[in-house]
Amino acid sequence: MKVVLSGVKPSGIPTLGNYIGAIRNFARLQKEMKDHHFIFFVADLHAITVPHDVEELRKNIRAVAALYLACGLTTENASFFIQSEVPEHAEMCYVLQSVCYMGELERMTQYKDKARKQKSGIPVALFNYPTLMAADILLYDANYVPVGDDQKQHLELARNIAERFNNRYGETFVVPEALINKTGARIMNLQEPTKKMDKSESNNKGCIFLLESINSAKKKIKSAVTDSENKIQYHKTKKPGISNLMTIYSALTGLSNKEIEKKYASGSYGAFKTELAEIVGGEIAALQKRYNEIINSSDLDKILDDGRERAREIASKKLKEVYKKVGLTRR
Ligand code: AMP
Ligand code: TRP
Repeated sequence: MKVVLSGVKPSGIPTLGNYIGAIRNFARLQKEMKDHHFIFFVADLHAITVPHDVEELRKNIRAVAALYLACGLTTENASFFIQSEVPEHAEMCYVLQSVCYMGELERMTQYKDKARKQKSGIPVALFNYPTLMAADILLYDANYVPVGDDQKQHLELARNIAERFNNRYGETFVVPEALINKTGARIMNLQEPTKKMDKSESNNKGCIFLLESINSAKKKIKSAVTDSENKIQYHKTKKPGISNLMTIYSALTGLSNKEIEKKYASGSYGAFKTELAEIVGGEIAALQKRYNEIINSSDLDKILDDGRERAREIASKKLKEVYKKVGLTRR
């Protein structure tokens, strides 16, 4: 059975970007690919690669888990769990470090961006982040990895590591493929539309968090930065602000950019933003309703406990195979 795998790190409350670019697709793919096994997890080990607040992290781990379910993910054909509860991820990461090169990790753009922002030293774990991500993927022989555009480079590294390992030690890992959406793979910051919407950014006005109040979310759409042309037309580089709003509109309604342009041919930015604010508000209100039903339920714990056991079953077998391949056995 083919495997589809993805993770979201609980370094904050997921944003509309995470929702459109990643989480929402997981549920859609799950419905479309019934004969695949899905592996979804809260990538909490990735969240300690930069300085963090301990209590915040604890809360966010549970919140992200509940949000996955609120977005429609089911456990029918899936293992759903918290990464740090499956110790094989860290163990596999260690082995993969022996086939991953410093130069490869130095080239990662996310590392360069994040390293620049560290005030008191760059944690080694930040440098090694992509190796852990490769371990997450290769541990389950994932065929497909649905992610947003920003993870393309990390996926490429995971493929290189898999191929190198296979060449050195014999066929062991499946070489994974990224699944990246055509629309909405990179939702931009509403105030700085040339930067991606990122939950770890400090500019809160440009970022819609899935658990913020509906009013506040609507306000952020209405005050999004656009150009002065007042013409609803898609042009990513010349009109990044309105193009980003059109991408959000398109992702949530299914209308293409051309159809949106036609619909609002004589409309103003103000009218367009007001309608989009309603659409976004409606979408996250429904999501929050489901989230509130799940977050404090014991069902959530039960689902995560079961998921952990299922994941460990697969992961421990793979790790054993890998230990054997590299010579880490008595006989
Ligand atoms: P992260 O928040 O970095 O854990 O990302 C979780 C998932 O959301 C990954 O698949 C990312 O590629 C995706 N993602 C993050 N930010 C965005 C964004 N602004 N637009 C689209 N997808 C995103
Ligand atoms: N690094 C990913 C992100 O920041 C999250 C993640 C961790 C992930 N492990 C993964 C995504 C494995 C896909 C597969 O978005």
